[in-house]
Amino acid sequence: MKIISVVGARPNFMKIAPFCHEIQAHNSKYVEKITHLLVHTGQHYDDRMSESFFKSLDIPNADINLNIGSGSHGEQVGLTMIAFEKLLLKEMPDWVIVVGDVNATLACSIAAKKLKIRVCHIEAGLRSGDIHMPEEINRLVTDRISDLLLTPDLMSSANLVAEGVLPKKVVFVGNIMIDTLEKHKAKADGLDLNEIIFNNNVKGKFIFNADTEFALITLHRPSNVDDEVALRNLVSFFTEELSNDMQIIWTVHPRAEKQLRAFKLWDKIMLNDRITLLHPLTYHDMLKMNISARILITDSGGLQEECTVLGTPCLTLRSNTERPVTLKEHGGASVLVGNDIEIIRREYRQVLKENILPISPEFWDGKTASRCLNAILNYESTNCL
Ligand code: UD1
Repeated sequence: MKIISVVGARPNFMKIAPFCHEIQAHNSKYVEKITHLLVHTGQHYDDRMSESFFKSLDIPNADINLNIGSGSHGEQVGLTMIAFEKLLLKEMPDWVIVVGDVNATLACSIAAKKLKIRVCHIEAGLRSGDIHMPEEINRLVTDRISDLLLTPDLMSSANLVAEGVLPKKVVFVGNIMIDTLEKHKAKADGLDLNEIIFNNNVKGKFIFNADTEFALITLHRPSNVDDEVALRNLVSFFTEELSNDMQIIWTVHPRAEKQLRAFKLWDKIMLNDRITLLHPLTYHDMLKMNISARILITDSGGLQEECTVLGTPCLTLRSNTERPVTLKEHGGASVLVGNDIEIIRREYRQVLKENILPISPEFWDGKTASRCLNAILNYESTNCL
């Protein structure tokens, strides 16, 4: 069997790592080998957004890099489809595996399906219900054309069946990103917080008092960082209120940095000595930050999930989520606050009063990659009857 797996952007790397390792384990055990090619579309290309994850998560070097880089959605998707189609015509794999909801996921699943190559989507069935979100469009289209839909939770399986997907194409496998978290948690926990801050500080090297409680911030969604009024209000809340309450550590995504500079908000943050700005962190450094933070304030989907498993209270700066299993009402650690400062202020005070216990939803157990590979290997027997 020949499989091509695709990655494009940062959140894909922790999802593909366990799958690559599972194929390696299969090949060392069985005579019938799987030929596996890893393709990086190059949507994320900085060392800090890409290469560092390959090294620290022990992902084999990509066999092919399409070097697509930055651009508008149309450019990224179009250029990826053109390059990936050429590669598929040369390699003609049995399966293309796509993960998550980034532009690479969409572009490569369409290119494969048009060549009648089977597509398997890992992390299928997530729905925010917000069609204005680029990732929601990517999820809807990818799931509509995939042959095998591997879901992280039963709500996602139910979403797919409700949309008319044949139930035999849907397999509940659990959350593959948690395989990576479980494997690397102990190593991350052993890291020195001060050293991470010292080595990644945007403002220059200085010692942070690691015994101090801190709020950890990450932002990158267009709905928060591309909207000038929303971003201005958030920055005012962070600099004028939150920073008086506790220290802030903000890991700055390239999109956020670009917009903060464009809206002339960058200096306001730089001048606040209660806010430490960090460059994008490696996987282990970010995990250590999450383990150590008093509260996380984020618009990332993956971090919502990690908070649920680690028990870190999480304010999600979005008005909806495709990951309802992470919300407090479903036993998770996260609460949706949008970017309304009144709501953020109220929920911030509320979650600090609560003791959020870490929970692992069903099948978020570190063994998802093995269930994914089994579902692919058993596809013929379950779907071609
Ligand atoms: C992408 C994904 C999003 C994911 C996020 C995580 C889509 C539609 N969005 O959003 O789902 O949560 O990644 O990071 O696929 N840039 C760099 N260096 C890089 C990559 C990007 O400087 O290595 C800059 C580029 O100038 C670009 C901006 O960051 O303009 C945004 O990158 P882009 O790939 O367009 O989307 P993200 O916002 O990162």
